[in-house]
Amino acid sequence: MSGTADAVIRIEQLHKEYETDAGPVPVLKDISVSVMPGEFVAIMGPSGSGKSTFMNILGCLDVATSGSYRLNGRDVGALNRDELAHLRNQVIGFVFQGFNLLPRASIEDNIALPLIYRGTPGDERLRRANEMLAKVGLATHRASRPNQISGGQQQRVAIARALVNQPKLILADEPTGNLDTHTSQEIMALFTELNERDGITIVLVTHESDIAAYAQRLVRLADGRIVYDGPVAHAEPQHLEATT
Ligand SMILES: Nc1ncnc2c1ncn2[C@@H]1O[C@H](COP(=O)(O)OP(=O)(O)OP(=O)(O)O)[C@@H](O)[C@H]1O
Ligand SMILES: [Mg+2]
Repeated sequence: MSGTADAVIRIEQLHKEYETDAGPVPVLKDISVSVMPGEFVAIMGPSGSGKSTFMNILGCLDVATSGSYRLNGRDVGALNRDELAHLRNQVIGFVFQGFNLLPRASIEDNIALPLIYRGTPGDERLRRANEMLAKVGLATHRASRPNQISGGQQQRVAIARALVNQPKLILADEPTGNLDTHTSQEIMALFTELNERDGITIVLVTHESDIAAYAQRLVRLADGRIVYDGPVAHAEPQHLEATT
């Protein structure tokens, strides 16, 4: 299917500049890209090439300077704050490198947090949180606090939290950046399962070609531009190079 009518992400001629004391600095230049439902996309590129800036725009945490972004068919630029928050909550689950877990809250409560923002009743929140805990293999840790579990387990909690709203799209900025090789493989197996079994669309930033290899498609950024967009399997070695 080549049409883009039902793309999850549809970006056209997107530009992003940051205002600095020295004047505007272009960071993303003429980015056009679409992601269809069920795709698993890895984003690579050197440090400073614009990956996090791009992810923040995809996640509606930041806005482009020009160009258009349609998320799940909605024109993000035409929405007000509340509409945008609602769309984001409905469609996107975030997984960030630092986990961002609340240290004093139990694992169960950490996972249920996005449902509070949604106004889901308490018993339903617990039911859903425990369902997600089981899904990431941490059912026995529901009452633990984040500092009582390992880094890999914390990342799984962060993934469970991203899943609790049943997102169509998961955005992950270096989700294995803090993890050892074995734990990284476990986390990537979980993403693969979510993609293949549940059909969740995944866009994931990584510095490592081994991690990118779990995706089907690679988008490589260099100096704010897309320099490769195609199958991971066919990417030239220079497009898979580690970049830090
Ligand atoms: N708030 C800001 N104001 C000005 N410049 C910024 C701001 N945030 C990022 N930049 C600049 O934009 C460029 C892209 O940054 P970005 O964080 O998107 O890179 P990245 O590809 O995620 O890098 P890394 O691999 O190191 O995480 C960098 O040159 C950075 O210095
Ligand atoms: Mg970054």
